[in-house]
Amino acid sequence: MTWGIIATWEMALEGVKHASYMLEKGLSAADSMEEAIKMVEDNPLYTSVGYGGLPNEKCEVELDAAFMDGNTLSVGAICGIKDFKNPISVARKLNEERFNIFLVGIGAEEYAQEKGFERKNMLTEESKKAWEKRVAEMKDKNLSPYDGHDTVGMVCIDKNENLVTGTSTSGLFMKRKGRVGDSPIPGSGFYADSEIGGATATGLGEDIMKGCMSYEVVRLMKEGLHPQKAAEKVVHEFSEKLEKRRGKAGAISIACMNKNGEWGVGTNVEFTFVVATDKERPKVYIANRDGNKTAFQEA
Ligand code: GLY
Repeated sequence: MTWGIIATWEMALEGVKHASYMLEKGLSAADSMEEAIKMVEDNPLYTSVGYGGLPNEKCEVELDAAFMDGNTLSVGAICGIKDFKNPISVARKLNEERFNIFLVGIGAEEYAQEKGFERKNMLTEESKKAWEKRVAEMKDKNLSPYDGHDTVGMVCIDKNENLVTGTSTSGLFMKRKGRVGDSPIPGSGFYADSEIGGATATGLGEDIMKGCMSYEVVRLMKEGLHPQKAAEKVVHEFSEKLEKRRGKAGAISIACMNKNGEWGVGTNVEFTFVVATDKERPKVYIANRDGNKTAFQEA
């Protein structure tokens, strides 16, 4: 049997490399993906995820994350959690629960505390400086406050045909306190069904959640579309719908993989992603919109 992992953004490369060793050794998709996402969360250079994530309007780092098990369709999700080191691990733990699987803010923090997850101040000096700079720019140059929303999202399948998806993000820079994007929302930021495949989204959550886009990609894969066709169809058709009905579409990118380890991406902006399977070593690709399709090449 095959294994594979696809992840949004180049920042996932080291994590995907690590996960691919684990998957090759026969370890589970859930463990491999969790380790890969933790590596992104732990790296302060990646300012849209985990430690060093860019803060909200009040200079607080509020984090969202989710985990979905494609065998049982179990979901665990948290949003607006502060001061915990690895949101993806808290989300994974929640996916074991029968009730209360999606927790927000203080409720998520109390759960994480009770389950013994590591606390950490997630605001770095660099992120604080970026916040101060943006506050000054907003005053001086009338700049829009909102920027940066590069979620790490992954779909991972192991040798035993277990398929999982996960997401982790600090969301929109300068977001309003309590704002939640697509990343922790099942069907929008992620979806997984081991009998079909999985998908994960990145971009402007406010627009992604209008189209339940990850679920839609999995639904099209179920109808027999190749992952590449499914991802580009969903992204381009929905971007066009947003442009027609609202005058514009935000950045939207989707990465997906089916149960056979075949993968695809759709995007309406420049987008990097990382793939590794039992047949291809970990590679970074760069994708772009090409009419109503998505073109990509090795970066
Ligand atoms: N896609 C992440 C967010 O909008 O929060």
